[in-house]
Amino acid sequence: MIEASLRVVPEGEEEWVGPMDVASRYGAAAGRPLEVDLGCGKGRFLLAHAARHPGVNFLGIDRMLRRIRKVDNRARRMDLGNIRLLRCEAYYAVSYLLPPASVDVCYIFFPDPWPKARHEGHRLFNGTFLDALARVLKPGGAMHFATDHAPYFEQVAPLLAGDGRFEAVAPFVPDAEEQTDFELYYVTRESKAIGRFSVRRRA
Ligand SMILES: C[S@@+](CC[C@H](N)C(=O)[O-])C[C@H]1O[C@@H](n2cnc3c(N)ncnc32)[C@H](O)[C@@H]1O
Repeated sequence: MIEASLRVVPEGEEEWVGPMDVASRYGAAAGRPLEVDLGCGKGRFLLAHAARHPGVNFLGIDRMLRRIRKVDNRARRMDLGNIRLLRCEAYYAVSYLLPPASVDVCYIFFPDPWPKARHEGHRLFNGTFLDALARVLKPGGAMHFATDHAPYFEQVAPLLAGDGRFEAVAPFVPDAEEQTDFELYYVTRESKAIGRFSVRRRA
C-alpha cells in the first residue's frame, strides 16, 4: 500500500535510479510471484485480480497520484495485503526501477493511444520499451496488452510478433468482474472492438 511503498522516500541516488528491491516491500511474502499492472488507472482490474489471487504479489503503477490514492483507499477497504502501488512514469519504472527478470506477468490495458499523428511518439510501445519489457520479465513470464484504438493495435501486434524474444500466446480476456474501469465504462458500454495481444518471454 502507499504507506509501505509510495511514501517511502528514496534514501540516496541509487534508489532514484533503481533497481528497487521490489520484493522486500511485500515483507514475509517477498518470494511470491510478482504481477505488475502498468497504467493501473482507478484499479478495478488490479483490485479484483489481487482479491482472487492472494498468493500473488501485485504492483500497480500509474503516473497520476489521484488514481494511485484511489486504488490505495480501495485496497485498504478490501483489506488486500498483496498490493503495492508506485506513482511513476511507466517507461521509467520498467527501464530502471523494476529489477531484471523480476516480473511474472505484466498487464498493459488501454494505455493512452495518443491518437493524433504528431503525438504517436508519446505512445508507450516502441522498440526501446520492448527492450525494457524483455529485461524485467522472467523467462516464461507474460505480458498482456489490450486497446480499443485500432491503429495502436496495428502498431503493437507486429512489433511483438516480430520480436524473437517473445512468443505469442492466447490473449488474456478478463471476465466481467475483472474488466478494467476503462473497458467497462468506455468500451463495453459503447460496444467498441478491443484488440488484445499476449506474449510470453522466451527463456
Ligand atoms: C486510459 S487509462 C487506462 C487505465 C486502466 N488500465 C484501465 O484500463 O482502466 C490510462 C492510464 O495510464 C496512465 N498513464 C498514461 N501514461 C502513463 C505513463 N507514461 N506512465 C504511467 N502511467 C501512465 C494514466 O494516468 C491512466 O490512468
